Amino acid sequence: MSNSFLPPSSPLYEAPDLYARAFEPPDPGQAGFFATLLGSPGGRVLSLGCGEGRLEETLARHGLRFVGIDASVAMAARAARRDPFGLYVAARMEALPLAPAGYAGALSALLSFAYLTQRAQQEAVLRWLAVALMPGAPLVLEIPLAWRPRRLQGISERHEFGGGEYAFHYFDVLEENDSGAVLATAMRIATPEAVAERHAPLMVFTPPGIRELLEAAGFEGVRFHAPYDLESGTESPPRDCLRGVVVAQRRESLQRRGKDE
Ligand SMILES: C[S@@+](CC[C@H](N)C(=O)[O-])C[C@H]1O[C@@H](n2cnc3c(N)ncnc32)[C@H](O)[C@@H]1O
Repeated sequence: MSNSFLPPSSPLYEAPDLYARAFEPPDPGQAGFFATLLGSPGGRVLSLGCGEGRLEETLARHGLRFVGIDASVAMAARAARRDPFGLYVAARMEALPLAPAGYAGALSALLSFAYLTQRAQQEAVLRWLAVALMPGAPLVLEIPLAWRPRRLQGISERHEFGGGEYAFHYFDVLEENDSGAVLATAMRIATPEAVAERHAPLMVFTPPGIRELLEAAGFEGVRFHAPYDLESGTESPPRDCLRGVVVAQRRESLQRRGKDE
């Protein structure tokens, strides 16, 4: 597909065709892994920062039905075309225009949740999700996860795809707080016809940091999936391992901790 309509450089998430090329084809194991974590919800699953819907399109074949939101109009529109069973709207996850009513699960894949870098935003969105999900419903977050977020500074990830290159780089540590650290990042997708880039701060969570946020918001059973040992805290992630998956269940009762426990 030609990207000649794009200017020489454009915002990455306004270039879904280019983004899709860099990430196609999806890892066949990835969709099955997310399908297992989400189970058979029998209701709509929220996807926060759904992007161009590559994962949702595949999961829809497993029977999942989504309400997806993305800050990019172009991404949300493309997701709607890819997954005809889903409902997709352009919206920011920290300003959701949806009623918090009875969702069967929630997903935020490939770093989207980590674009919320303020702790107050993270708390508000997780609290909204706890109210919006049915009791026991799963929340699946794929986020940058590290015991020592500072160690990611200077790390780059690169891959080539047909006729182009994708690159991601962590720069300076902008802030450290109880949830982890905020790092400046740059992402770039380049083909001979077009270049799309994004420079943004991104939250790198520590396992105790995200666990505490989830439990305070109304989630339980927090567990981690990463290709390195997160539970013991004895091993650092390998320098090329940039993300992990956190899963939790919405508690049966949402009464605030401390008052009732
Ligand atoms: C790395 S992409 C991941 C897309 C998709 N989840 C996937 O697996 O391909 C991150 C997405 O998050 C979206 N995004 C960033 N900040 C957002 C926000 N505050 N609210 C909603 N979407 C956001 C971007 O527009 C982009 O599509």
